[in-house]
Amino acid sequence: MPSDAIRTRGLTKRYGTFLAVDHVDLDVPAGTVFGLLGPNGAGKTTIIKLLTGLSDITKGEATVAGFDIHKDPMHVKQNVGWVAAEVILDDDLSASENLWLQAQLQRLDYWKGRAETLLHYFDLTAYRRQKVGTFSTGMRKKLEIALALLHQPKVIFMDEPTIGLDPATRQMLWELIQGVHREFGITVLLTTHYIEEADALCDNVAIIDRGKIVASGTPDALKESENADVIEIETKQEVNEAQLRAIPGVLAARSQGRSWLLRVSSAEEVLPSLLAVVHDETVRSINVQKPSLETVFLNLTGRRIGGSESEGPVDFRKFYAQMRRARS
Ligand SMILES: Nc1ncnc2c1ncn2[C@@H]1O[C@H](COP(=O)(O)OP(=O)(O)OP(=O)(O)O)[C@@H](O)[C@H]1O
Ligand SMILES: [Mg+2]
Repeated sequence: MPSDAIRTRGLTKRYGTFLAVDHVDLDVPAGTVFGLLGPNGAGKTTIIKLLTGLSDITKGEATVAGFDIHKDPMHVKQNVGWVAAEVILDDDLSASENLWLQAQLQRLDYWKGRAETLLHYFDLTAYRRQKVGTFSTGMRKKLEIALALLHQPKVIFMDEPTIGLDPATRQMLWELIQGVHREFGITVLLTTHYIEEADALCDNVAIIDRGKIVASGTPDALKESENADVIEIETKQEVNEAQLRAIPGVLAARSQGRSWLLRVSSAEEVLPSLLAVVHDETVRSINVQKPSLETVFLNLTGRRIGGSESEGPVDFRKFYAQMRRARS
């Protein structure tokens, strides 16, 4: 296999006049975990459908596991696994029977040893004869990933693998997913709208919005490229834009109705001057964010991805008081 497990150039999907995927270039190194991070409707699932051959490409090139998706779609299908966002298990069957069924559907000959290995890896051996209907959400997800790995694909696509899971189960799945490419020598492309997930789990991330890749790189490089804090401030009265921009340390200001998004060199340094310009009593809310994949997205689009698990806006008076204490 070439060093890229997935490579796309100008990948485009149009539904009627609507561009769901707009000239997307991806390079996913073999043996890595790659994250497509974006809000609802960004085009994440559509990209997976294009790369697994479930949907026709309107325009553009793609190779998956070394095979050209136009010229060699059968080989692509043989070499990829897909974990859908929706549950695909048969509740009336046991874990082993679900694996058996998967083997039949894919006409696999030698699968039993692989099934044992997968049950063991996902810690499901003790529950193999139990009906899947009795499984917890985390156990179901693990079995779904095992099914997708049964035919020994080189690349596995996971569409929102941890959506709706509690934090502890999510953490457990992260570790398993990270282990999968080491243990089974596989490349993982997953989609998510959880900032923390992309950050913690992925070697490389492409941030997608409205069908377009707006930024890509390692999570660390993306955050470093930010090199700025973001202050989001909502006021009861109009604020003078020129005054905001004139505050030392304000790098950029973007308005959204009564709320402002300020890109600043350092929130700690800018807040006192900001609160002198925008008087305390007119402030409805203030939210300070250190560089994160969320602020990368915010700066590029002016919107939030909307999947952060972190706490909501901080109380600005409390935050300000804390900072004063920290500085004195
Ligand atoms: N079969 C279809 N026909 C028309 N439009 C579609 C079709 N499938 C998807 N779309 C549109 O394409 C856009 C991208 O959809 P997609 O499901 O890929 O987004 P997503 O990033 O997976 O979002 P989510 O986080 O909600 O799963 C959306 O606006 C969606 O409504
Ligand atoms: Mg989706």
